[in-house]
Amino acid sequence: MAAGPTVLIMAAGHGTRMKSSLPKVLHPVCGRPMLLWVAAAARAAGAERVVAITRPGEGVAEHLPEDIETAEQTEGEGTGSAVLAAREAIDRDGTVLVLSGDNPLIASELIEGIVATHQEQQAKATLLTTSRLDPTGYGRIVRGADGGVEKIVETKHTDGVPEEYLAIREINIGAYAFHGGALLDALDRADEERGERYLTAALPLILESGGRIAPFETDDVSSAMGVNNRADLMDVERHARSALLRAHARAGVSFPNPETVTIDAEVEIGEDTVIEPGTTLRGPTVIGAGATIGPGTTVENSEIGDGVSVLHSYLTHCVVHDRASIGPFAYLRPKADIGADAKVGTYVEVKNSVIGAGAKIPHLSYIGDADVGEGANVAAGNITANYDGRDKHRTTIGARVRTGVNTSFVAPVTVGEGAYIGAGSVIVDDVPAGALGISRPEQKNVEGFAERVEKKP
Ligand code: UD1
Ligand code: MG
Repeated sequence: MAAGPTVLIMAAGHGTRMKSSLPKVLHPVCGRPMLLWVAAAARAAGAERVVAITRPGEGVAEHLPEDIETAEQTEGEGTGSAVLAAREAIDRDGTVLVLSGDNPLIASELIEGIVATHQEQQAKATLLTTSRLDPTGYGRIVRGADGGVEKIVETKHTDGVPEEYLAIREINIGAYAFHGGALLDALDRADEERGERYLTAALPLILESGGRIAPFETDDVSSAMGVNNRADLMDVERHARSALLRAHARAGVSFPNPETVTIDAEVEIGEDTVIEPGTTLRGPTVIGAGATIGPGTTVENSEIGDGVSVLHSYLTHCVVHDRASIGPFAYLRPKADIGADAKVGTYVEVKNSVIGAGAKIPHLSYIGDADVGEGANVAAGNITANYDGRDKHRTTIGARVRTGVNTSFVAPVTVGEGAYIGAGSVIVDDVPAGALGISRPEQKNVEGFAERVEKKP
């Protein structure tokens, strides 16, 4: 698509059948709003100008990246009114592409195909069709004797629609190329139906004015699927996920049980990494090479290095460096930064803390707002008391420190390099490097206690 035409994406209206407070086109498919899938396909097909048609107050415009312009649909209902709202963006002498914001998996190759067909056939309108979907609810393509399109019969409401039209399997996917002037002239004259001005009502008027309407038929089911309710959304998500997993698999990632893996569009994974069953990878998560993630693990918006292993754990907005070992049953919260070769083990929670290279926190600990030095060993059941009821404070545990089990660090507090902490201590004062910090009541043994107690009548 040389010096690509303008692409309009219809994205207004709440989509009442979604039964949602979120506008339809913002519903995510593999973590990315539907509308952004469409915009990405338009860009990949070479579109220079992408204009989303939104309605003020619906909150869609506010969610768009800067390179997507918006046109506000303030008047009228229906896809025809939507396009008219973008009148200023339509070149009367050029080609304009119109895509639907609820048709997320449309392939960029098909967008290119629409434009090529439009030019070859010198059409005034070209539209993408398929006969491969259940046609229920879609606009049906009525073809003329020459194979061109005569009109589209909408079937969202079937009352009064003649049987012969309901028997047609070929449907309108909702992706079009138009001659700008022909489109605007037709839409301005189009009648309303059920209070809506339909974009599809422009077609017979374009034909009447002597313009050709070319169909461009595809067998690509995922590209064709429109989303009008959440059952449609599930179907689309399944297709998108399967395509993503296959692309990762071809790039060297193993999924022993792909049916149980959930993955977002932005996720990146290195070669030789294994994504075990029951794993969910969300947001712009990056996973290195030779890692093992899962089983039973969620990783969101995080960066995981090479050779890392994460078992049965939940990781969100954190960084894990090469070869570290996480879990089973660890919880890494925002700004946890786990050093290379470090270990964060069973029932350990880490938040806003830097764990040095090779440090170990193997069992039952909470480390929040802390800096743990390289090679330190934090014994079982250590807690950083980071919150005094009003403010958060940091704990610093130096390199190669060895803490005892059941230690509490009452922050702010610093333990110097190579120091030891006695088991069961509550550390409220700094411990110098190389010292032993111990704070617990001395033990007292009461001799003969059992005998005395058991002899009581
Ligand atoms: C539309 C087509 C139908 C096609 C189907 C494919 C019309 C009249 N019908 O029906 O032929 O088979 O898509 O999925 O076009 N929108 C606006 N402003 C509005 C109304 C809708 O921007 O006033 C946007 C919606 O956000 C949506 C798109 O246009 O992304 C399509 O609207 P929708 O109501 O879903 O039309 P369908 O009934 O699916
Ligand atoms: Mg729709």
